[in-house]
Amino acid sequence: MQVRALWYTRGVLSVLDQRALPAVTRVVRLRTLAATAEAIRTLTVRGAPSIGVAAAYGMVLGKLEGRYTPARAAKVLGATRPTAHDLFVGIEVVRSAWASGEDVEAAAHAYRAKVVEECHQIGIAGAPLFATARRVLTHCNAGALATVEWGTALAPLRVARQRGAHLFVWVDETRPLLQGARLTAWELAREHIPHAVIADNAAGHFLSTGQVDAVVVGADRIARNGDFANKIGTYEKAVVARENRVPFYVAAPWSTFDSHRATGASIPVEERDPDEVAVMAGRRLTPATSRSRNPAFDVTPARYVTAFITPEGIVRPRDLARTLARRARAERNAGARVRAGGSGTAPPRARSPRGPPGR
Ligand code: MRU
Repeated sequence: MQVRALWYTRGVLSVLDQRALPAVTRVVRLRTLAATAEAIRTLTVRGAPSIGVAAAYGMVLGKLEGRYTPARAAKVLGATRPTAHDLFVGIEVVRSAWASGEDVEAAAHAYRAKVVEECHQIGIAGAPLFATARRVLTHCNAGALATVEWGTALAPLRVARQRGAHLFVWVDETRPLLQGARLTAWELAREHIPHAVIADNAAGHFLSTGQVDAVVVGADRIARNGDFANKIGTYEKAVVARENRVPFYVAAPWSTFDSHRATGASIPVEERDPDEVAVMAGRRLTPATSRSRNPAFDVTPARYVTAFITPEGIVRPRDLARTLARRARAERNAGARVRAGGSGTAPPRARSPRGPPGR
């Protein structure tokens, strides 16, 4: 059975504690905005879409506490993790509902439902790519834990499996916090999906010896030109995939696309506590006098991306800016119709997903 990373009932946001998995399955109950911000900062809840949904509910908790303005609440939650674009989308959805006197719980519920539905659509759109690409490599955790349900990178694999594909997944361990070894492997093991965890520095070996048919990852922020930020180490995988003519796919819901950013050059890269690198399982690995550095993300240029797997289908990097502009126009028009007293309509659907694009 698929995982649910978080759920909300009557003033309590419950999150699966992603720091404790896979050894311990426990739920942390969050009752305040500050506790939610801390859970996001410490990666108790993590993965860009899950962070966005948690932050949306954090805003709801802030309103219930009665001691924040919408702007102050947004500021506290927005200071937790700078790279994930979804964080700011989730905050803004509830901030604007709050500021205009609408039902904030309904706004957060709707946002959550949209994220889950988009991830399911990513699964449907991307599954044909993995009907023949049997051996797939992924980095970090872009599964249900990272997206509330379904996943981004893992959603097409889930749907392909349901359709009978025989997949094998190479799981990068993802130092320093081991989201691959701990979380992706946990999700795959629960669903009996064949996989092997590999050291991060082994990916080049498997790619160059013909043992990987495709790479699929999630993203924390995607610029208009297709440059994207994802977990540190993603850039290397993309370069080595290109060197070995292995297709490289990036799966993401619309909340991850930052159409205000022309390229990846200005994407903020979170730098975390150096001890996450130097200390493992409570034991210092490095000499006491050695420094360490801990950028949590890197930015991969669009030229390494074969295609984006979006809720509306497969989008090549060269078509991304046009797709985002069309969506923005459709949203503006729908907003204008609502303001004019009409019903507004959902943004039009793109062409149905095509088969695997060549390189
Ligand atoms: O630091 P994390 O664990 O939040 O980083 C998560 C990732 O890099 C994921 O690949 C990304 O958020 C995509 S999740 C669908």
